[in-house]
Amino acid sequence: MRVSIWRGRQQGGFRHYDVPRLASQTVLDVVTHVQRHLEPSLAYRFACRVGMCGSCAMTVNGVARWTCRTHVAEVAKGDRLEIAPLSNLPVIRDLVTDMRGFFDKWARAKGRFEGSATRHDDFARVEPGSQQRRLADAGIECIGCAVCYASCDVVTWRADFLGPAALNRAWTLVNDVRDTAGVERLRAVAGDAGCHSCHTQGSCTTRCPKHIAPTAAIVGLKRITARAAVRGDL
Ligand code: SF4
Ligand code: SF4
Ligand code: FES
Repeated sequence: MRVSIWRGRQQGGFRHYDVPRLASQTVLDVVTHVQRHLEPSLAYRFACRVGMCGSCAMTVNGVARWTCRTHVAEVAKGDRLEIAPLSNLPVIRDLVTDMRGFFDKWARAKGRFEGSATRHDDFARVEPGSQQRRLADAGIECIGCAVCYASCDVVTWRADFLGPAALNRAWTLVNDVRDTAGVERLRAVAGDAGCHSCHTQGSCTTRCPKHIAPTAAIVGLKRITARAAVRGDL
């Protein structure tokens, strides 16, 4: 198989490698083969190899994907594969991007749980069938891979847009009955760079490898922040 891999930083180019095709081979297997046998200085990230850590995302034949769970057979065009770093993030080197901006936006969206319970309190009981539990659970499995972020046109157009993952996280916490950040978090996501900048086209939802729907989360945030604004809470 002919594999083209991005080498360099923002400025760089594709280099080409011949990699043996194997049964059940993943894109991460291909990158690992190149690094171990052909190009020891190739920089890339992975940790778990089982779709848990979110560190292996790259652009594969033009589409952002997690590479440890993407089989070559699903994505190769003929016998060709083009592998590049994620879009919308600065490139540190080769396939490694600088994730700081992505995670800083989680912090700006108040993506951290703020509870009031102490170790002396009993566990909170949240009915599994309740609407808030259902809404909170829908986005909880996010692994922070930034596939959605790299696929979002609005992030490309305006660097300050919080982006689908941070907004999905905020929505998860808005619906967590144990969380106490309330209006403060709504203020954080209601600004000009927040939920109202999303055009709802849904690339994030189409591409999320965990089948999370950030678009639906953002629609929920739009609704709830609009109501809060009408009430004069924001
Ligand atoms: S639906 Fe919104 S957040 Fe998702 S990719 Fe489109 S603009 Fe970005
Ligand atoms: S919402 Fe999905 S695509 Fe976005 S960071 Fe989380 S797991 Fe990755
Ligand atoms: S290596 Fe952890 S999600 Fe791919």
